[in-house]
Amino acid sequence: MTYVRETIVTTKNIDNTIKISPLGIYIDEEILRIKPFKPSISLDNILRNKSGVINYVDDVRVFASCIVKNDLKIELTKVDKIDCSRIKSAVSHTEFIIDHVKDDNLRPTIICKPVNEEIHRMYYGLNRAKSAVLELCILASRLGIIDDEKIKNEIKYLNIAIEKTAGRNELEAWKWLNDYINTYRKNIK
Ligand SMILES: Cc1cc2nc3c(=O)[nH]c(=O)nc-3n(C[C@H](O)[C@H](O)[C@H](O)COP(=O)(O)O)c2cc1C
Repeated sequence: MTYVRETIVTTKNIDNTIKISPLGIYIDEEILRIKPFKPSISLDNILRNKSGVINYVDDVRVFASCIVKNDLKIELTKVDKIDCSRIKSAVSHTEFIIDHVKDDNLRPTIICKPVNEEIHRMYYGLNRAKSAVLELCILASRLGIIDDEKIKNEIKYLNIAIEKTAGRNELEAWKWLNDYINTYRKNIK
């Protein structure tokens, strides 16, 4: 059984800026695998640099901002063991180098070798609204692929967790994603 952690991967672009992308980390027997669909800038960066950073982030606005591509200021700070940066507000992070790659035309697998892990601050546990925002990120990234009626029904269900448990950050991310979905709907009419 493969366990998936939803994380933010930071990688160094060719112009030395940092690419910030939500990517699942697939974990089997403690081995970390990243599976980016082609084309992916993160994939290109990891292959070129042979390294990257996995950020464990509990501010779901970072995930939502990557999907809606707004101007959320995401602060970065350099990491110790590889030439890259991490998200400053991350709870913790893993710096990795490539162990090996299983290439594929659609979705290659990068098997990661952790070279440094650090904890930066308290982790305050699970929250239903955070999970709901993550689910909406996935739906928003698949507009035009998933049936719109299904998206409407899922939003209705996920909204229960938002109404009951969201804080300010979750509400903000929820609004960005709903605005993004509504704009998409208006534009395809
Ligand atoms: C929670 C979450 C998990 C994701 N996991 C993956 C993944 O495992 N593989 C992938 O290709 N895209 C995944 N995505 C979508 C990528 O973030 C998106 O395709 C992104 O643009 C990657 O391309 P890039 O490297 O060019 O930024 C995920 C998105 C979200 C919101």
